[in-house]
Amino acid sequence: MCGIFAYLNYQVPRTRKEILETLVKGLQRLEYRGYDSAGVAVDGPKNNKDNNNNSITLIKKRGKVKNLDEELYKKDSDLDLDAVLGTHFGLAHTRWATHGEPSAVNCHPHRSDKDNEFVVVHNGIITNYKELKKYLNSKGYEFESETDTEVIPKLTKYVYDNRERDTISFSTLVERVIQQLEGAFALVFKSRHFPGEAVATRRGSPLLIGVRSESELSAEHIPIQYNSAPYYSVLRDHPGTPQGAEGLMGPTEPTALFKEGVQEKNIHNRPDAVGGGKAVEYYFASDASAIIEHTNKVLYMEDDDVAIVTNGKLSIHRLNRQAGEDPVRLIKTLQMELQQIMKGNFEAFMQKEIFEQPESVVNTMRGRIVFDTDTVVLGGLKDHLKEIKRCRRLIMIGCGTSFHAAVATRQILEELTELPVMVELASDFLDRNTPVFRDDVCFFISQSGETADTLMALRYCKERGALTVGITNTVGSSISRDTDCGVHINAGPEIGVASTKAYTSQFVSLVMFGLMVSEDRVSLQKRRGEIIQGLKDLPELIKKVLALDNKIKAIADELYEQRSLLVMGRGFNYATCLEGALKIKEITYMHSEGILAGELKHGPLALIDKHMPVIMIIMRDACYQKCQNALEQVTARSGRPIILCCQDDVEITKNAYKTIELPHTVDCLQGILSVIPLQLMSFHLAVLRGYDVDCPRNLAKSVTVE
Ligand code: UD1
Ligand code: M6R
Repeated sequence: MCGIFAYLNYQVPRTRKEILETLVKGLQRLEYRGYDSAGVAVDGPKNNKDNNNNSITLIKKRGKVKNLDEELYKKDSDLDLDAVLGTHFGLAHTRWATHGEPSAVNCHPHRSDKDNEFVVVHNGIITNYKELKKYLNSKGYEFESETDTEVIPKLTKYVYDNRERDTISFSTLVERVIQQLEGAFALVFKSRHFPGEAVATRRGSPLLIGVRSESELSAEHIPIQYNSAPYYSVLRDHPGTPQGAEGLMGPTEPTALFKEGVQEKNIHNRPDAVGGGKAVEYYFASDASAIIEHTNKVLYMEDDDVAIVTNGKLSIHRLNRQAGEDPVRLIKTLQMELQQIMKGNFEAFMQKEIFEQPESVVNTMRGRIVFDTDTVVLGGLKDHLKEIKRCRRLIMIGCGTSFHAAVATRQILEELTELPVMVELASDFLDRNTPVFRDDVCFFISQSGETADTLMALRYCKERGALTVGITNTVGSSISRDTDCGVHINAGPEIGVASTKAYTSQFVSLVMFGLMVSEDRVSLQKRRGEIIQGLKDLPELIKKVLALDNKIKAIADELYEQRSLLVMGRGFNYATCLEGALKIKEITYMHSEGILAGELKHGPLALIDKHMPVIMIIMRDACYQKCQNALEQVTARSGRPIILCCQDDVEITKNAYKTIELPHTVDCLQGILSVIPLQLMSFHLAVLRGYDVDCPRNLAKSVTVE
């Protein structure tokens, strides 16, 4: 996940060095979220204390914030660090790559042109960036990075260059720009044309503003300025474009927004604007952890708010007031400690990541599934689709949780691709010198993209001429770079050693792959439709499962002193047993085993008695009856099963010691819902047993040795 930090000092003199220190410190506070490169934009360059030509300098560096920090103070730097700047606006950003690998050029801030007329930092994903890029290319705008973000400063310059009058405000420009954007974003803009001014906005990605002032704030709440402007499309409405031609965004009318002046005056001269033109400092950040050491007065922006600071005054405005919408934004006083902010209200990163799953699965699907037309396009695989469809078999390779994602999706991939699918633990695959052929397609599943065994298996398959496909969470990782093609799962950085949200996103990615391959199979259309609907509903269903947390905690209270815990199931839910047991052993240090229910009478049944805790997964799918048989075998030996089952399953409930009732979804996605109670259970067991959930003993997040 990326991090935004920006700092505006208005009539508060600061040296350039102090400003850079503030920006770097802000980024360091966001480091815990994970990142691969960092950058800043400040006024400059050197010996230009008054910055008369309003130039902007960008400094960007791959790697840690420390690398950027060193770069800022290099001897040959163009910046005069001792220059005192009374009013200044600086941007900073840490990037977690989604579009294009980690590098200085892909790093933020991004710029409109070589003169840095507009520079932008962005969190989120712009899903229609390809269309926008194509359009801007056709207008002669040249792109330097592989990112989606770069369309934003370019588009801003385009709107600026095509303004109808000499004057246009910075905020109006940004309003026009965001009307063209699809996807999720938090954005902060800086411009040579508007020195000392800041504009920030968001949709679907968090952004907040901290305010610090020696004098009392002139307002504790900010009334929103509404502009009743109809939808505006740059690509249609700009002067010189015939109506109806080139329209990328659908029908629009020329807008009242163009009738500037009225609205401009309103915003900047309001008596209740925060800042009131006196000395004041503003901090913009994607996360309160970067702000809290400067001020505890913060304003949380809402989707589509545009915040503007002009002459030291902060105001908020929006297009069109919706019914029931709150017409003010409050400046709140934060009472939280830094540590608390970083983890939100969670005790550990693992817990936070479990609770992020309603959003992380959406990020995995974003821009890839069109729910109205049942279409799935994985951009990274579409050029290889023909070759994949012609292959002899699919081999899915990974370690630990990533291997379990392969087990979880094997059956649905066999059904949708009509190909044989092998699942392999990377180490065992290599130990066996498994035969691999040119017409095999080999998947390498890895959250980190750096796991040594998986990487070696990748090299092994490449040498044998197979097509290699990566499924990874880390853009720019070795697996992402070394595979022929692949899918970035976009779950956001995972900090807890125990993998949780990466698993569900790997799961969703592999299901999407099956859906993409089967798009032209007439006989599979009904099934595809069902699964796509299931994916659409998934975030809401995950929320319902997360709401069972208290119940799961109560069960953990009963179990935490046990020495062992068995987890049983079969069919689509077998992978959940393996993954649940791995979570339990990994962070609670209890013995735990995932058992295929079909194997019960071939050995594991001997373990069952009234003392052995057993979790069984019995969902209403093709294995339901067989699972009931297993349940009878367990209860007949005085076992006391805790059962994960579908809501209102009376039959199961009456034979259970306890039940955890889950919402029902299509069989092949049920494993996404059934694994969450076990993630939560392992978390609670570990806390109750007094262990460090995020850093279990003997384990590392990324296993880069054999
Ligand atoms: C791209 C964006 C993604 C956005 C989507 C929709 C990038 C990096 N990603 O995703 O954030 O949601 O458009 O607009 O620009 N690759 C490998 N091996 C791997 C993973 C990926 O070779 O393990 C390759 C892919 O084949 C592709 C590139 O990396 O060429 C980007 O992959 P991915 O991010 O999945 O592509 P899109 O789905 O197009
Ligand atoms: O980064 P990877 O997905 O390649 O890592 C593979 C395993 O090391 C990893 O999933 C491990 O099993 C997790 N700690 C389990 O929670």
